[in-house]
Amino acid sequence: MDLSKKIREIQDFPKEGINFKDITTLLQDKEAFTYMVDTLAAQLKDLNVDIVVGPESRGFIVGVPVAYKIGAGFVPVRKPGKLPAEIVRYEYELEYGKDALEIHRDAIQPGQKVAIIDDLLATGGTVLATAKLIEELGGEVVSINFLIELAFLKGREKLSNYNVKTLITYHD
Ligand code: PRP
Ligand code: MG
Repeated sequence: MDLSKKIREIQDFPKEGINFKDITTLLQDKEAFTYMVDTLAAQLKDLNVDIVVGPESRGFIVGVPVAYKIGAGFVPVRKPGKLPAEIVRYEYELEYGKDALEIHRDAIQPGQKVAIIDDLLATGGTVLATAKLIEELGGEVVSINFLIELAFLKGREKLSNYNVKTLITYHD
């Protein structure tokens, strides 16, 4: 199935010059949604993943069904101030400014195998921050999987230490 056909492109959102990739049209399509989850899950086969980590918020949508499908746990990485227990925080650059992400300190045990799943690889800042948080807790990032890659933003260069897979690549 060509999932790229299910993604809607919105010009000049959220600001002029950005061609936004809207995944809601894929998610609402039952065959496309099933295919996306099954394909991401198949990429993680044989990696013995204990935990899927998804960054808020679109990483929850894509990561949770994959975690369920492969029989892994799910850990949310959240925007600041949302997690109630003791947290670890990492500050990073993103496409339109600066931000920080947080994870619960007890969410991952040392040595656990972790896969990061998010909808989109743009600059790579979000997922690199997520990987740093996992590693600070002693987790091993065994795979990073995205639905979409914006190759022209070269996020892969930031993630060169990791095993990165993407389902759809845009070159401009
Ligand atoms: C978007 C997208 C990725 C991130 C990619 O999330 O869902 O998480 O940007 O950009 P990067 O590779 O340059 O870090 P956003 O922060 O807009 O929030 P959302 O998931 O809550 O919509
Ligand atoms: Mg996001």
